[in-house]
Amino acid sequence: MNINTTFSMIKPDGVENGHVGSIINKIVGAGFNIIALKMTQFSKKEAKSFYHIHKQMPFFDDLISFITRGPIVAMVLEKENAVNDFRTLIGSTDPNEAAEGTIRKLYATSKGENAIHGSDSDQNASIEASFIFSDRELFNGI
Ligand code: RTP
Ligand code: MG
Repeated sequence: MNINTTFSMIKPDGVENGHVGSIINKIVGAGFNIIALKMTQFSKKEAKSFYHIHKQMPFFDDLISFITRGPIVAMVLEKENAVNDFRTLIGSTDPNEAAEGTIRKLYATSKGENAIHGSDSDQNASIEASFIFSDRELFNGI
């Protein structure tokens, strides 16, 4: 069995709309184990760094304004095939294209304000987790 981890965050719209509890229930119900969790907020500088791969995209400025406008709830999640299974659980970027029962179908309001993030590779999961959590918070070395 290949147990690995992914990084997720409930985005400001998910927090503002009161969906934190429902989303976490869905994640745990799908078999993910929460390894680390915290509520925090991106500065503009941090958000630009976190999303640097989208720097040239037309939606970049909107994305930075959105992701910094309120708190997020960040998590590191463990499960067999975590990265891919989590992407399946959250659904397509655009909620109109997301499968029934996915987190984005249930809780996202638009392609930009889509409730939740999930890493797209093992390498990015590790980079993103380290961006938000300290080694101590990730329980490394225990
Ligand atoms: P995420 O990284 O947040 O899990 O989302 P994703 O892989 O499904 O989508 P990605 O292409 O990585 O885009 C990152 C985030 O940018 C915003 N976005 N807005 N208005 C638009 O056309 C648009 N496209 C992307 C979304 O918040 C998206 O999740
Ligand atoms: Mg992405």
